[in-house]
Amino acid sequence: MSANLSTRVFDSVFEMLPNEANPSPLVRINTLHPLAAEIAAGTSTFELFAKLEWMNPFGSVKDRAASYLIRELEAKGAIWPDKADKKGRGIVEPTSGNTGISLAAMASVKGVHMRAIVPEKVPEEKKVMLRIAGADVDVLTDAMCPSPGMGEGALGMARSYAKAQGDRYVMPNQYENHANVQAHIDTTGPEIWRQTGGKITHFFTSLGTCGTVTGVATFLKAKNKNIKIIAVQPSAGHDVPGIRNKDELHVTKLFDASLIDEIIEVPFEKAYTSALGLCQREGLFAGPSSGLIFEGARMVLQRDKPAQGLGVAIFCDNVFKYISSMTKHLPALAGEP
Ligand SMILES: Cc1ncc(COP(=O)(O)O)c(C=O)c1O
Repeated sequence: MSANLSTRVFDSVFEMLPNEANPSPLVRINTLHPLAAEIAAGTSTFELFAKLEWMNPFGSVKDRAASYLIRELEAKGAIWPDKADKKGRGIVEPTSGNTGISLAAMASVKGVHMRAIVPEKVPEEKKVMLRIAGADVDVLTDAMCPSPGMGEGALGMARSYAKAQGDRYVMPNQYENHANVQAHIDTTGPEIWRQTGGKITHFFTSLGTCGTVTGVATFLKAKNKNIKIIAVQPSAGHDVPGIRNKDELHVTKLFDASLIDEIIEVPFEKAYTSALGLCQREGLFAGPSSGLIFEGARMVLQRDKPAQGLGVAIFCDNVFKYISSMTKHLPALAGEP
């Protein structure tokens, strides 16, 4: 049997990975639509949709990049499980959590070992999820992942593992590997194009490794160069796991400013209030980076008030892995006055 997408019966979890035929859902924003007043007054027909990446099998947008990274390593014969006559060779990767969770889950099923190097700042829930997915986890005391000092930090440590123990580890490197971008050129972009019937006018996303923005923008701009690509960044000194302020982008080689029409900055605390609003008023259990992206979309649409068009905002993962971050920033959620 192979996947039946109408009954949603799958042969294995790998068949659930998203693609044009099996896209992650697009859900219309209703109560919190930034142009609700204009729509009610008949001066705008703009539609806004959230693309729910937490519906991917391992819970985030990073399932796309991770599956491409693993596929590439397998095709090269670079990873294998323990064998009777040969020790296995696994994966080592610096990660703020989601890529590691996806990589570890897929590697574990294949019997391949995985070591995730994470900064201390990563929420506890993600560190535990990495272990649940089967990863060995090294926690570093950097403020960022990877740290700007290439010799130190998560990126440096992952590199040292891959160098010193090359027989045991290979590092796919989501910050440099074009497979990360290709995943979005092949899947996210075509999904959005088909789901919107080619009507998309605005695409909102964040900047992490920049695989999402570069891949989706490459695809969508080739279809229609007028589609606006808007990247939402948190204010400096932020505490939003998984994403970057533009001053932190030097660590990724996948950022291509020529594909981005606007980078809008949002005070990072808004990531948390916006995520809570989406949970409580749209029934969308969005995590903080989705909250930040939604707030950026709100600011742009409120400023420009387009009379027509269609926007898609990437909702990278859901709130369940961020209970400690949510209660830190919104103490009332912990029952505190
Ligand atoms: C929660 C979250 N949001 C957004 C992103 C950014 O995605 P990208 O790395 O494709 O830029 C990531 C990346 O790890 C993430 O974990």
